[in-house]
Amino acid sequence: MLAMGAPVDRLKSVVGRRVRRLAGQPDLQRRIAELEKRVATLEKAGGGSTKERRRAARKKARTSGLGGTAPDRGAPAAAQTAEVEAAVVAVKEQRLTYLTLPALRALAVTVDELERDELPGIIVEAGTALGGSAVVIALSKSPERRFVAHDMFGLIPPPGDEDGDDVHERYATIVAGRSSGLGGDTYYGYREDLLGEVTATFDRFGVPVDQNAIELVPGLFQDTISGDEPIALAHVDGDWYESTMVCLERFGPRIVPGGRFVIDDYFSWSGCRTAVEEYFTDRDGWSFEQRGGKVHIVRAAADPHA
Ligand SMILES: C[S@@+](CC[C@H](N)C(=O)[O-])C[C@H]1O[C@@H](n2cnc3c(N)ncnc32)[C@H](O)[C@@H]1O
Repeated sequence: MLAMGAPVDRLKSVVGRRVRRLAGQPDLQRRIAELEKRVATLEKAGGGSTKERRRAARKKARTSGLGGTAPDRGAPAAAQTAEVEAAVVAVKEQRLTYLTLPALRALAVTVDELERDELPGIIVEAGTALGGSAVVIALSKSPERRFVAHDMFGLIPPPGDEDGDDVHERYATIVAGRSSGLGGDTYYGYREDLLGEVTATFDRFGVPVDQNAIELVPGLFQDTISGDEPIALAHVDGDWYESTMVCLERFGPRIVPGGRFVIDDYFSWSGCRTAVEEYFTDRDGWSFEQRGGKVHIVRAAADPHA
């Protein structure tokens, strides 16, 4: 629980605890700087309770098009090629993904568009689980474009104070060993060798990772996401607040003009929604749209006349 006191003091104490927790971990300096920046922003904004701050952020987000008001551009009736469409249907039938068919098709077409537009940058996914969405991305991209997929490839990490009851209830079921997987399968978090299974899935779908510039990176996003390589598309599917926030903070500055985030869980999990609203409120140069039921956040393209 957070200690009582002025909101900025409370945030400072959270930061202090996190800094102590992070001691000895890679990227410590940068993470500390990010947390300190969040404190400074809050101090500049004059504080306010966390609830007030979030309510204001949500109100602002709603009026600027975030929060479900932007109309969904819909999803195409089929993916861009028969091969990708067949894979979209197959990953659903084989219970390899939590995404809906429209969301998978919209993701496939989004990757196809960035290839046609020759957008520079790599593709990243944070939250791969059984690999369904990652396989669709892999089949839609050019074989040369690097694709880095981050996941625990094990049990999902615990949520935090910023996540709501919905998340904590879901996590309690998972850690109690009571979560069932898709269609009654073993829940992916309980599998012995999820990384091995996902690697084999890429082989089965004809996109072996070692021949298609694909890297599967096991571990906590907080530990494994680093670097400054430009990003064309970031598929963020990590469910919880901190899992989402770390992606926004570390991928955001690297997204190229015209590149985008696809946020899987904005309408599903409270913590993800809070992270998106906190990060993007008062941040210029991004626009929001919906495709196939998912929130897309696009960095403004460079002005050719500038
Ligand atoms: C909903 S699943 C991803 C679903 C997948 N994209 C699909 O097609 O079904 C979320 C995944 O994110 C992972 N995850 C969440 N937070 C994480 C974190 N902080 N670090 C590493 N993995 C995380 C979970 O372990 C889980 O595998």
